[in-house]
Amino acid sequence: MRQKKKQKKDQAALYKEELQSLEKSEAVCPHFNSCGGCNLQNFSYDDQVNTKLNVFKGMVENSYAKRAFKDVEITSLASTRQTRYRQKMDFVCAFGKSGLRGSSFDDVVELTDCHLIEEESFTVYKEALQAAQQAGLEFYDYLKHEGYLRYITIRRTRTGQQLLSFLTSSIEHQDKIEAIAKQFLDAGKIDSFVWQMTGGKSDTSFGSPYKVWGKDLVEEKMLEYRFKLTTNTFFQANQEVAEEAYRQIREHAKSFEPETLLDLYSGTCTIGISMSSVAKRIIAVENFLPNRDMALKNFELNDVSNIEYIDKDVAEYMETFEESPDFAVCNPPRSGVDERPLRALVKLKPKGISYLSCNPKTLLDDLAIMSLHYKIESATVLDMFPQTKHFETLVQLRRKDV
Ligand SMILES: C[S@@+](CC[C@H](N)C(=O)[O-])C[C@H]1O[C@@H](n2cnc3c(N)ncnc32)[C@H](O)[C@@H]1O
Repeated sequence: MRQKKKQKKDQAALYKEELQSLEKSEAVCPHFNSCGGCNLQNFSYDDQVNTKLNVFKGMVENSYAKRAFKDVEITSLASTRQTRYRQKMDFVCAFGKSGLRGSSFDDVVELTDCHLIEEESFTVYKEALQAAQQAGLEFYDYLKHEGYLRYITIRRTRTGQQLLSFLTSSIEHQDKIEAIAKQFLDAGKIDSFVWQMTGGKSDTSFGSPYKVWGKDLVEEKMLEYRFKLTTNTFFQANQEVAEEAYRQIREHAKSFEPETLLDLYSGTCTIGISMSSVAKRIIAVENFLPNRDMALKNFELNDVSNIEYIDKDVAEYMETFEESPDFAVCNPPRSGVDERPLRALVKLKPKGISYLSCNPKTLLDDLAIMSLHYKIESATVLDMFPQTKHFETLVQLRRKDV
């Protein structure tokens, strides 16, 4: 009889398998059954962290990178905050309702609380929503592409500053938006109000900034550095876990005493700046232009002068780079590093690499290639998103001949 081929399990199947034997507890959030968000919250936090670790281990077993993990003890890092850890949240306004998406695209779950953000931030969102309704601002309809108010975003930094943002489909009703902005600023509830606009048809919380009232930018801190942010600036959602990850990356980089360090997919350069004391020269590569302006502001704010910011596609830049960097940090989007830049990176032969990933699947695909020349020194599952199934992974690599 022909043997049945063993089916490889993907992340979803691994979660299902891991969770089925665990004891369930009561969910904290009253919206647990309707909101599409925190779907691990009816398990104890220890179980959540262990499950994520086991899911990652299962993915390693099913991947081409499996051999590279032989003798590597995969560890996990829990979040110090298990609720109210997010510094930014986007609430959709659609089909006459505002809140988070439920089980389908047109299902919007209205909320009495959201345990992912500080209570004070949630209160500001609810009050802003009420102000918008009182001003008669009509919510958007993503099916008919009609209406006005699309998203309300709230962002709170660890310096205690708060930013409120409205995303609308046009620049009508300026008097109403301005009145709401001033009402919140005058009451000291926020430090910055950003009005952004998009006429695009797709569902996005991202628009072009049109007007700002109050502070142009709010300030965040990480390690011993400060960072300027606005509504759309990418910043890790859970600062405490991100800070620990950056600390570990810095220790790994330091062990190579780098002259030149590459910060690939650098965004506004939070990682590059955090590494600025351990490398003589840093080259940051990023292709989304607004990030460059913010990075330059952050260099000035932190008095950092050893970072060169390259506004280019990573693959394109790496293929023309002729030096041999001592160290590289990769923090790519969910799609991973991709084969072209990956081959270019391996050819440049940095002695050490830190790979911080938000997608374990693409991370493992990339590691399968990298592990031909690099050995894994450590791999840590970072619980950046408690109560949800998402996690980040940090893998520290050393070139085999170093
Ligand atoms: C996960 S974010 C990392 C940002 C940054 N490392 C941080 O911690 O703030 C990924 C970044 O990669 C950038 N990016 C995506 N594809 C790129 C490419 N092909 N070349 C250069 N940058 C890219 C995105 O604009 C985004 O800023």
